[in-house]
Amino acid sequence: MNLWCTLMYLSRIEEKMLSGEYGEAIQLAMKILVKVGESLGAERLVEVNHVHISGVSYSNIGDPGLRFIEKLAEIGGSFRVFTTVNPTCIDLFGKTDIFSKDLIAGQMRIISALEKMGAEPTYTCIPYSIRKPLPNEHLAWGESNAVAMANSYYGARTNREGGPLTIASALTGRTYYAGLHILENRDVKYRVKIEYKVVDEAEASILGLYIGDKINGIPLVENAETWNFYMIKEFLASAAATGNHALIVLDNITPRDTYIIGHSIENILIDQREIKNLYNKYSSTPDISGKTLVYIGCPHLSVGELRHVANMISKYESVKENVFFLITVPYSFTSEIERYVEILRSKGVIVAYGTCPIVSKFKDKPDKVLTNSGKALFYLSKLHGLEVSLLGLKDIIRRVMTQ
Ligand code: F3S
Repeated sequence: MNLWCTLMYLSRIEEKMLSGEYGEAIQLAMKILVKVGESLGAERLVEVNHVHISGVSYSNIGDPGLRFIEKLAEIGGSFRVFTTVNPTCIDLFGKTDIFSKDLIAGQMRIISALEKMGAEPTYTCIPYSIRKPLPNEHLAWGESNAVAMANSYYGARTNREGGPLTIASALTGRTYYAGLHILENRDVKYRVKIEYKVVDEAEASILGLYIGDKINGIPLVENAETWNFYMIKEFLASAAATGNHALIVLDNITPRDTYIIGHSIENILIDQREIKNLYNKYSSTPDISGKTLVYIGCPHLSVGELRHVANMISKYESVKENVFFLITVPYSFTSEIERYVEILRSKGVIVAYGTCPIVSKFKDKPDKVLTNSGKALFYLSKLHGLEVSLLGLKDIIRRVMTQ
């Protein structure tokens, strides 16, 4: 007998899922979705085409998270929809020992349970490079930068989900119909004019940190069409780090029928002085005299971005002695990036697959970090207590490579 009642409208198949006819794992997942949906006022569920599971790092979720995922696999959980997975806390090809070895066993158990349920072994925070979202397509994605890209760049519809909820969506192929799944909730509140030229991904990051921190509600950012893809990616990742932003409309980029312009829009002007102040607040003076970690690849680099970095680095001799130069990429990129990885490794650069330092634990903490990512800057200073400086890729390479 099904003792679980809901006021939410459920289709016949969803009712069967909730009553346990499709097994214990799907029933548990459906209960989670219905409970969350009800608390958010959702009247129904919606089918999703792609789930991206976040919160899979053993360093972050520990044994309770591991037990939850393993239990779902043990009771017969099986994903009903295309499902990609966020980075783990270990280098999945084991070529670098920068991260703590204590995490390997727990992380491998999480991976094995997820893959048993049918997850694609992607281990990346750029799931849009594995499968491009379509405008107005419903998704259930975790990982704040990916969610911001899905909504803002591709015009898809997803809320910013937590790890357990993404797993529930993978098991049922559904999410609750509320928040950014509804067009009326995608209404622009602010028009943001940037009164200076944003020149690289580090500047785009700072602007993102600023907008994330200062603006509540959906902004429309003008002139972003003059930025390259890498700048957009770093901008959105940074805004999603300091704020709850899951959708930032990019004028002339975000597909027009995926958002609405609200009635009373407030104009906001951002000048370079404000950004300079914020830069001073977040970023320390670049100094690579001590044991320094250079980190590129937050969010993970795409194939084209890695090619670009490899071409730039190929003109130099090697990485300076006191510098540990780390680049992170998706686990699922292998043959297509092999030759760029070879070039980078020949110059002393470490390429780690399926991981990142923010969701992992350093074996030995560096004295300083130099990065081109506002998101990495924010979390490495906030969560790991490190001294972090932000510079554009070109400047970083010039400083840390020998001729
Ligand atoms: Fe990805 Fe780690 Fe940055 S998960 S977005 S590289 S914090």
